[in-house]
Amino acid sequence: MIDETLVRREQAALMHNYGRLPVQFVRGEGAHLYDADGRRYVDCMAGIGMINVGHCHPDVVRAIQDQAATLINVSNLYYTEPMVALAEWIRDRGLGGRVFFCNSGAEANEAALKLARKHAGPGRTEAVALVDGFHGRTYGSLSLTGQPDKQQRFLPVVPGVRHVDRGDVPSLRDAVTERTCAIFVETIQGEIGVQPVPIEMLRLARDLADRHGALLVFDEIQTGMGRTGSLFSYQQLGVTPDVMTLAKSLGGGVPIGAVTARPGVDEAFQPGDHGSTFAGSPLACAAALAACRVLEDPALLQNVRVQGARLLEGLRGLVADGLAVEARGMGLMCGVDLVTPRAADVVGEMLQAGYLVNNTTPRTLRFLPPLVIDGDDIDGLVAALRRILAPS
Ligand SMILES: Cc1ncc(COP(=O)(O)O)c(C=O)c1O
Repeated sequence: MIDETLVRREQAALMHNYGRLPVQFVRGEGAHLYDADGRRYVDCMAGIGMINVGHCHPDVVRAIQDQAATLINVSNLYYTEPMVALAEWIRDRGLGGRVFFCNSGAEANEAALKLARKHAGPGRTEAVALVDGFHGRTYGSLSLTGQPDKQQRFLPVVPGVRHVDRGDVPSLRDAVTERTCAIFVETIQGEIGVQPVPIEMLRLARDLADRHGALLVFDEIQTGMGRTGSLFSYQQLGVTPDVMTLAKSLGGGVPIGAVTARPGVDEAFQPGDHGSTFAGSPLACAAALAACRVLEDPALLQNVRVQGARLLEGLRGLVADGLAVEARGMGLMCGVDLVTPRAADVVGEMLQAGYLVNNTTPRTLRFLPPLVIDGDDIDGLVAALRRILAPS
């Protein structure tokens, strides 16, 4: 599966912050990846939710090729069509307000935090976020990330962030005050194993934000772009944020992030407040616009709901047979808790079986397949999992 010399070169040339699985991919198409020996794998991770439209979607490939041959980048000192068209697309399907572009999810949350601070004015410097939430690894976004193991070695982080358990209504009530500028929430916490935030917490967050004049920010970086069966997950939940952050699948595989806000809030950023050299490049925006247009196909979102239900049913079957303890999911964002803490080993065994999955905790597997995955691949995934989890 892997050329050992590549592993040695990687060890000598790259910093050691990733633990990679022993496989080298050379090609991708739809829900499938191919290694250097031509072996096919079913990608049940979509590059950690970053390529929802599938690998090398022909529309995205064409958009990149055409744009690369015309104009790759020119900076934010000038006007370009793809950037404006993509912002219009997001504005018109999201919160109705303007858009700020950046290059990643962490940067989107950094920008949202600055936007909220600017919107709130002096003195309102605190933010509230949820325990177990993940918002990125740069200092501002890391301060929002409610996972002590990610923060510990890098303290102190940006001060003023209070973390509240995702089901703790009284603590949320206490945490939001007149000093709060924003409440950051993922509707489903992906990095901790696909844990949905209870609807009463989302409603309370909306209510508290309104009452205290804070902004409700939904991080839809993992849940957005069709992942849960609607373009953005909040559209199924009946709670609308003031600000939304996007990244991952927005670019169809090309790096891009975005912050969008409701009208009025979007005016907080004025010239000089924030920026990024590469942000909104014609290349990234052309790729993203093509990926976004793929998501306009109602049949694709229907596939998310159908295959998501099929996957969840399969995972629940494992629970019913005592091979797992709990399965959760919304659309094609699913997680399953195993009986014993052997999830990392299962990931390795699934790779051997030709399925890419990942573990978010020692007990929890996560599934984020490309939205184009079909029923045969879902059935194959569940069958492989069943074989691996069954007592020998
Ligand atoms: C919900 C959420 N927010 C933010 C991020 C950070 O995005 P990036 O890795 O592009 O900085 C991630 C990445 O996994 C995420 O899942």
